[in-house]
Amino acid sequence: MQIILYFILLTTSFVQKSFARLYFNDFLRNSSSVAKEARETLELFSSLSGDESYQNRDLEKASQKVAKNLYDEKVQPTTLVPKQVGNMYTASLYAAFVSVLHNKHSTLVGQRIVMFSYGSGLSSTMFSFKIQDGRHPFTVSNIASVMNVDGKLDSRHVFPPEKFVETMKLMEHRYGAKDFVTRKDTSLLSPGAFYLTHVDSMYRRFYAKKGSASKSISATNGTMVNGH
Ligand SMILES: *[C@@H]1O[C@H](CO)[C@@H](O)[C@H](O)[C@H]1NC(C)=O
Ligand SMILES: *[C@@H]1O[C@H](CO)[C@@H](O)[C@H](O)[C@H]1NC(C)=O
Repeated sequence: MQIILYFILLTTSFVQKSFARLYFNDFLRNSSSVAKEARETLELFSSLSGDESYQNRDLEKASQKVAKNLYDEKVQPTTLVPKQVGNMYTASLYAAFVSVLHNKHSTLVGQRIVMFSYGSGLSSTMFSFKIQDGRHPFTVSNIASVMNVDGKLDSRHVFPPEKFVETMKLMEHRYGAKDFVTRKDTSLLSPGAFYLTHVDSMYRRFYAKKGSASKSISATNGTMVNGH
C-alpha cells in the first residue's frame, strides 16, 4: 500500500484507530510486512480471536503506537482539507484525496491510492487506483494548480457563530419547502458560480450564474443544473 486515504467522520482519532487496525491485519496476514519493533509488540495479541481483538483496548492503543510512523507518512497528508473544512459526509473522502493532490502532487504519478470510507449504517467501501499523468491540461501538477487549495482556503470568509446559527435556521426553514425566493446578495459567491434564485409552487428550482447576463436558468431545461 502506498498512500491510505480515509473518510474523516468526526475526529481524526477515528481514522488513526482504523489505520492501526489495518496495520494489525497486515501483521496477521504476513508478519514480515510490518517493522521489526512493531512485530514484537503485536505478537502479544496474535492469539486473540477476531471478536476478542475488536474488543481489546490494549491492542487498540499498542497498534496505534506502532503504526504511528506509517500513519504520519501515508495518512497525515490527507487530513488537510477535512480538518480545515470540517465534516462534509460523502465529499470527505474526496476532500482527503484533494489534500494529497495538493500536498504531494510532485511524487504521485505511479503511486497507488487506497480510498476507504466508513459511514452511518455500518457500511464501508474500500477501493484503490493508480495515478497516471495525463496530457495537458490533465497533468497531475496542472490539476493541483487549478484546484488552488491554498488560495481557496485563504479566501474563506470569517463569520461570528450567531451568523452561522442564523444561516442554519434559514436552511432548516427552507429544507423541502416551495414557493420562496432567495436573497439577491451574491457578493460572497465566486464569479461563474451557479446559485438558487427561487423554488416555485411545483418545487421546481431555478438558478442563475454569477457574472452572467443571461436570465435565470430553469432546472427543467439544461443538463448542468437539472435536478439539483
Ligand atoms: C511477506 O512480506 C515480506 C515483506 O514485505 C515479503 O517480502 C514477502 O514476500 C511476504 N510474504 C508473502 C507470503 O506474501
Ligand atoms: C430549453 O433550452 C433550449 C436550448 O437552449 C431552448 O431552445 C428551449 O426553448 C428551452 N426550453 C424551455 C422550456 O426553456
